[in-house]
Amino acid sequence: MRLNIPVIDEQHQGLFELIDELGQMDVSSTRKQKVGMMLSRLIEYAHHHFQTEEKLFIINRYPDMNEHIAEHDHYEFMLRMRWKDFNNIHDDDQEALSVLIETLNRYLLTWWGQHIADKDRLYVEYIHNTDIDEE
Ligand SMILES: [Fe+2]
Repeated sequence: MRLNIPVIDEQHQGLFELIDELGQMDVSSTRKQKVGMMLSRLIEYAHHHFQTEEKLFIINRYPDMNEHIAEHDHYEFMLRMRWKDFNNIHDDDQEALSVLIETLNRYLLTWWGQHIADKDRLYVEYIHNTDIDEE
């Protein structure tokens, strides 16, 4: 779903590419360390993306920013929990690793799909309705 805010659309695109890359990994035969690198890239990218959006909320005085930011915070909390689970998996337990990554991948696709269609779309509506050019 495109929002027509180029910086945000590009970052969403980048995020889905990373999620896709994670989904394509054959985790059952990939070393845990490599999966971990992929996961931390995703976590950092999302963090950077949230910062971009949240700066825009402040610049544009978005009245519903707190609710939106709360969703970002919840996501980051969930990812930190999964990161802990990941670290608790034994190095050669490929099965546990596969289950975690599969579950996480489904969560990521659902979360981003819903967040963009709901919270991000509301922000875009606000920008359009208040005639703000600022991106
Ligand atoms: Fe957002």
